[in-house]
Amino acid sequence: MKALLKKVVETFGPSGREDAIRQLLLDEIKPYVDRTFIDNMGNLHAVKEGKGARVMVAAHMDEIGFVVTHIDEKGFLRISPVGGVAPVRCLYQRVLLENGARGVVGVESVKNPNDIDFSKLYVDIGARDEKEARKLAQEGLFGAFLNEMTEMNGLITAKSLDDRVGCVIAVEAARQLKKSPNEIHFVFTVQEEVGLRGAIAAAYNIEPDLGIALDVTGTGDTPDAPKMPMKLREGVAVKIKDNSLLVPRRVKDFFMRVAEKNKIIYQPEILTFGGTDAGAINLSRSGVLAGCLSIPTRYIHSVSETASLSDIEEAIKLLVKILESDVKKELED
Ligand code: CO
Ligand code: ZN
Repeated sequence: MKALLKKVVETFGPSGREDAIRQLLLDEIKPYVDRTFIDNMGNLHAVKEGKGARVMVAAHMDEIGFVVTHIDEKGFLRISPVGGVAPVRCLYQRVLLENGARGVVGVESVKNPNDIDFSKLYVDIGARDEKEARKLAQEGLFGAFLNEMTEMNGLITAKSLDDRVGCVIAVEAARQLKKSPNEIHFVFTVQEEVGLRGAIAAAYNIEPDLGIALDVTGTGDTPDAPKMPMKLREGVAVKIKDNSLLVPRRVKDFFMRVAEKNKIIYQPEILTFGGTDAGAINLSRSGVLAGCLSIPTRYIHSVSETASLSDIEEAIKLLVKILESDVKKELED
């Protein structure tokens, strides 16, 4: 799992440019499902056939990034964010453009650090002048951040754990799944970071009986963190609410019941900001039962997102047990 996670987090794929990560995930999940297809939005679907409930498992494969908006006469690029990118978190980071060009983010001198916004940032691609820069890059190219995955005392630190960790949990669950009565659609969604766009179209297409998003969640366990219960190393988080979704009681009760029965370590997730693909699935058509399994993660939307390997293992176990149960019966009101 760790080797797969390293490969997956280090692959390029900002919102709208998911081609490379989609190909990697397709190769990884194909042996464990009955059929795969890519829809018009670019979502990757991997389906295990079954006669029971139709379950959509969504993990977004896009990551936050940027687009080149301008190249100046000295050969520096100006950029605009794609997804929730905080300008200060870009400072001096290494970046990769979709054409393979590399760069580093610099900043104009500012008196007050609060004045740092995208108009003050530039990308240095090592060009001598505008002419050389235009050979290396053009306006409209997408880019993303670069960082290697590292480990510290059972925790992993990487870019794009949001939400490549969800993608890996989905692949591992597909691999470990033995017998399931359900029709399971693993969907690796696009464009979550710009507004859950891939999941909206995928959920409409699938019309699931239950949607399960896999994603990261914030924690309350660092200095000066928001007052929330989620902690690293306390197990998979079962979502109760965020700003996109109030998880129906029978859905979160079902997930917690399965965890208890199988002695899987879990914690409740009450997130005071943000949302996931589960919110989009919930609002599809005439409404869909939806919930979310989350990985407590520090420093979300930075190049050093940090989570616990043990929590990821618990999430895989819980997802497998949920998918192996008779979902139709479990969700009866
Ligand atoms: Co995100
Ligand atoms: Zn996410």
